[in-house]
Amino acid sequence: MGSQRVVATFHLPREWLGALPDLTDFVEWGSEEPAPRDWLLKEVGEADGLLCTVTDRVDGEILRAARRLRAISTYSVGYDHIDVGAARARGIRVGYTPNVLTDATADLAFALMLAVSRRVVEGDRLVRSGGWRIPWSATFMLGSEVHGRTIGIIGMGRIGRAIARRAAGFDMKVLYSSRTPKPDVAAEYVPLDALLPRSDFVVLAVDLNPSTYHMVDYGFLRRMRRSAYLVNVSRGKVIVERDLIRALEEGIIAGAALDVFEDEPIGADHPLARMNNVVLTPHLGSATVETRRRMAEVAVENLLRGLRGDPMLYEVGSEVP
Ligand code: DGY
Repeated sequence: MGSQRVVATFHLPREWLGALPDLTDFVEWGSEEPAPRDWLLKEVGEADGLLCTVTDRVDGEILRAARRLRAISTYSVGYDHIDVGAARARGIRVGYTPNVLTDATADLAFALMLAVSRRVVEGDRLVRSGGWRIPWSATFMLGSEVHGRTIGIIGMGRIGRAIARRAAGFDMKVLYSSRTPKPDVAAEYVPLDALLPRSDFVVLAVDLNPSTYHMVDYGFLRRMRRSAYLVNVSRGKVIVERDLIRALEEGIIAGAALDVFEDEPIGADHPLARMNNVVLTPHLGSATVETRRRMAEVAVENLLRGLRGDPMLYEVGSEVP
């Protein structure tokens, strides 16, 4: 396979790459910054395999430049950054890394729910800024409870299911809405219109596609409870961010906890970053050592299999979500 050229758009620790650099003519973008488009356009020209991630836009232009490309392996469960239709029309197979990041992402959804409703980050900021003056007071920094409340999960794929399992451990009532009911899930399937007014936490666990793009707009937020929190561990573009900002400013919902944003990264000057009832994390859903290492194993294996013409471990379009 030594004559097969593999281009990686991002850096992974050498020990996570397994045999990939030995088995192929391996070229990688060596900085933490996303690979520049010009670099990718040039490098992909002679590539047989592409190892990419969520910060790359693998569109028609890249695919047209990729004269020899046979396999794309994205280091992510999401593949909305890849024009999968155009790739497949060119006979290019696309692998991705579901399953291995499910639990880490569900853990983060819970971390966010707890953080925003129990004011964990706000409390931390208060202590660090020297604002904790009265030792204890019965009404100081009261939040709202997670256990026993109602969670409404939108999207009941792998991550939605993992969130539902955790919610059961918190004695929560679990509602969900998704394209179709899932008979194997011990939760109540309801239409979105019924889920929103009943949920104390609305958690987004959908993938980004034309039907979920900007699904959360002002009208959606107005159908939520005023006491409810919105949690997003899916994709930023599921939310119309300016509508969310307006809803938070107007007190239409109690707060939000977001791991993803319409345009990443966001800075300290972003309106959301100035709100106390909002918890923000920088796209950390899968960011644990264990998960990122497993994602690397899957991504490398997908790529090698794709180059050999074997079935990938996880190939877009070849298995049930
Ligand atoms: C994914 O896998 O799609 C995450 O957003 C990044 O790990």
